[in-house]
Amino acid sequence: MIKRSIIVAFVCMLIFALVGCGSSTEKTTSKEQKKKITVVTNPSFAPFEYMDKGEIVGFDIDLLKAVMDEAGLEYELKGIGWDPLFAAIQGKTADMAVSGITINDDRKQTYDFSIPYFESTHMILVKEGSSIKSAKDLQGKVVGVQNGTTGQEAVEKILGKENKNIKKFEDTVVAIMDLLNGGVEAVVTDNAVANEYIKNNPDAKIVAFEDPEHFETEFYGFMFPKGSELKQKVDEALKKVIENGTYAEIYKKWFGIEPNIESLQQQQ
Ligand code: ARG
Repeated sequence: MIKRSIIVAFVCMLIFALVGCGSSTEKTTSKEQKKKITVVTNPSFAPFEYMDKGEIVGFDIDLLKAVMDEAGLEYELKGIGWDPLFAAIQGKTADMAVSGITINDDRKQTYDFSIPYFESTHMILVKEGSSIKSAKDLQGKVVGVQNGTTGQEAVEKILGKENKNIKKFEDTVVAIMDLLNGGVEAVVTDNAVANEYIKNNPDAKIVAFEDPEHFETEFYGFMFPKGSELKQKVDEALKKVIENGTYAEIYKKWFGIEPNIESLQQQQ
């Protein structure tokens, strides 16, 4: 009798231990799944990412939300500087960056990129009546760029890498301010950003033009630390969002026209 009750008690304890164990592993896995992905951006690049009433908004931000919803991933978006953004991805203190980032061979050595989601080129912003009419005219002029961008590289190709006339700013917006104040004679930045500035500031008396001979076509992608497992999930979700019409909706909301999906998909 005593023996039997000991056995019963033992079995009970065993079951308790097993059930207890089971539920505790469940807890850790659900906690892991809920681990939020940290996404970083430099929100001074309208219409892609910028601050509006204390919130980060823009084309990139809407697209990010659509892609993460599609992938079933939770994320937290943080506004940081442009240079810190690259440091965060390289140091893996962030999982993903979304910031109108051009995919190029140089960056591909250090980072991984999603499939392309936006086609871009550069534009030259000048004051109305400026004698600068083409990229070649930038020679001998003080030109503003955002530090560490492909706009800087594009200007370096024309003026030379160490040219003191290339004025580098932490933010694109600040470079444009300097143009207004006469600190620089031109600013080279991404075409959609140049057009957005002109649209929003009709009284600034700033004009912008392209120069296809000197400025190449580039594509934006989401950026990840090298070897990130997130890339595949994001790529799959981004493909779906492009195919199912969500991308076109977001594009029309921000640019007022239909996107050229075919040219984007040709790059995949
Ligand atoms: N597309 C350019 C580059 O990748 C400029 C991007 C700047 N983005 C920003 N959020 N400030 O170099």
